Amino acid sequence: MIRSVFRGSGSALPVRVVPNAKLAETVDTSDEWIVERTGIRQRYIAGEGETTASLAIEASRAALADAGMDAAEIDLIILATATPDNTFPATATKVQAALGCTGGIAFDVQAVCSGFLYALATADSLLKTGMATRALVIGAETFSRILDWEDRTTCVLFGDGAGAMVLEAEEGEESDRGLITSRLHADGAQHDLLYVDGGPSTTQTVGHLRMRGPEVFRHAVVNLASVLREVIEDAGISAEDIDWVVPHQANARILDATARKLGLPAEKVIVTVDSHANTSAASVPLAFDTARRDGRIQDGSLVMFEAMGGGFTWGASLMRL
Ligand code: UT7
Repeated sequence: MIRSVFRGSGSALPVRVVPNAKLAETVDTSDEWIVERTGIRQRYIAGEGETTASLAIEASRAALADAGMDAAEIDLIILATATPDNTFPATATKVQAALGCTGGIAFDVQAVCSGFLYALATADSLLKTGMATRALVIGAETFSRILDWEDRTTCVLFGDGAGAMVLEAEEGEESDRGLITSRLHADGAQHDLLYVDGGPSTTQTVGHLRMRGPEVFRHAVVNLASVLREVIEDAGISAEDIDWVVPHQANARILDATARKLGLPAEKVIVTVDSHANTSAASVPLAFDTARRDGRIQDGSLVMFEAMGGGFTWGASLMRL
């Protein structure tokens, strides 16, 4: 059987760091409230010249260098984003041109905060069917550009960034390295709990993010615990076998509650929400790359990825590095 085997990762953050105290100068909030309710201490905000594509390109170059691979070897680029540079064409095509590997497949995936999980599972399917051999899977966002900076209930929660992963198709057995299993879900009936109030076909504007936070919080814990159980069962492992959980970084309290529900020790959960805030589709690959670079996640580790976001969409993937 063909397995999608991990080859390398990279990430990128904007230059500008914005601590909670800075936001308290413009909206009625405080460092204490943000830290206590979310675990966020700071976020990175894109400045002039920094876009979803530029962050994605930087993260992709780092991932290719980590993989020791030339961009010309990549024949599939999937970029997960809800904040593309343009309505069309796909930001993935911009990345492809910048890397100089035109001719293969390149497209965007839109599943908001679960985008990277959707992109990963899609890349895995295309590699398994032989449609492509080497994939660049990217999560990149500039959520700062769709925030209502006067709405304290949302503007303090998000940040910008990008993460990328290189996968290669390889013949392997069940016990070998690679993506083991993925599960994806969506529930379009929950649209109004987390959405952007604009778009090309409705308002002809970009719009702003709107969220009913406490309701999203409750759904997130239930849906994530459920999809994690599905993947654990599917893979025929037990929760204790997992070396690291790399969750979507929305709120430290969601990470704690989900880990508790599954009986996973907090030390196995990678947390970067304190320094990156919620970077939507970028958060999983960004957290993963951070933990690889600081030496926590190593070759051979059994890693669980999970995310939940607007749509609602949610999913999880298990990978042996
Ligand atoms: O990435 C996609 C998935 N997204 C998520 O998973 C986000 C899920 N939701 C959450 O993380 C949390 O619900 C929030 C962090 C958004 C909010 O935390 P909460 O503990 O659910 O607070 P709340 O919305 O119930 O608000 C509590 C109080 C309210 O005041 P009153 O009505 O009690 O007087 C809010 O108006 O906190 C107030 N509040 C704030 N105060 C200071 C809301 N935002 C702020 C703020 N600073 N930024």
